[in-house]
Amino acid sequence: MSYSPSSPIKCHSPRVTVIGAGKVGSTLAQRIAEKNLADVVLLDIVEGMPRGLALDLMEARGIEQHNRRITGTTNYAETSGSNVVVITAGFPRKPGMTRDDLLLTNAKIVVEAAKKAMTYSPDAVYIVVTNPLDVMTYLVWQAIGLPRNRIMGMAGVLDSARFESFIAMELGVCPLDVKAMVLGSHGDLMVPLPRYATVNGIPITELLTTATIERLVERTRNGGAEIVELMQTGGAFYTPASSTYVMVESILRNQSRLLPIAAYLQGEYGLNDIFIGVPCRLGYSGIEEVVELKLTDAERNALHTSAQEVRKNIARSQEVFAAVSR
Ligand code: LAC
Repeated sequence: MSYSPSSPIKCHSPRVTVIGAGKVGSTLAQRIAEKNLADVVLLDIVEGMPRGLALDLMEARGIEQHNRRITGTTNYAETSGSNVVVITAGFPRKPGMTRDDLLLTNAKIVVEAAKKAMTYSPDAVYIVVTNPLDVMTYLVWQAIGLPRNRIMGMAGVLDSARFESFIAMELGVCPLDVKAMVLGSHGDLMVPLPRYATVNGIPITELLTTATIERLVERTRNGGAEIVELMQTGGAFYTPASSTYVMVESILRNQSRLLPIAAYLQGEYGLNDIFIGVPCRLGYSGIEEVVELKLTDAERNALHTSAQEVRKNIARSQEVFAAVSR
């Protein structure tokens, strides 16, 4: 059969909008396109910059061997009909700042972005990446009122990746063999679960002393700040982008991966009306299931302490939320 330009083969590509073309957003756009997952719309408020990044990524397509379209824009109309919307917009931490210090500034940015995106992509799955993560995800949910399967925050995958890396480095084993889960908020009170961490099925509690595990847990809790201190200008972006990619891929390829995700809880783990990191199955419709692990009393208490911190910040952010919503 000969090819006729008048009857082109129609190939529908999924579309991912990434709001915020900073380091995390632009690296995520690159991963999505170069791993041939979807077309990407990269949106930012700074005129020209997202278009420049998109053009730069487009020019690499022949070398990187993919045919995904990357569009840069400041106009939300161009994001229309996205399957997944990722919100990375907002200010990153400076040395000495906690993620919570960003609360009020980023609340306004994130709520406005989510509302605009929702006008054009009402059926999308929304992933929030902006810090402080658990609170920002709650505000986006409040602002656009999606069913809970379609709105979530990325952080547990990142925190778990860090914990896994530190375990691999300590033992000198291949990182591919290490699996771990970090629950709770994406903050100083996150809850790494050493009991569930393994090297190819062998619990790390068999391989490392309690003191060493505690040191790796502390380094994980401090993982973001460690990089901010080293870089001085901005924070981590390679692993945050890779971690977000994993979630977008699990959705678009309907992989049903079991990942730690900031999800809206309605009684699971004894928590209600809060977004916090718990294991979830993630597929085409978004969160397919919140999986309840049996936690020890200490783990459950740590999760609840972490939730109290998130609640405090949700309360602090309500005034800004009300002002933006007027
Ligand atoms: C970090 C930021 C992204 O943990 O929260 O590196």
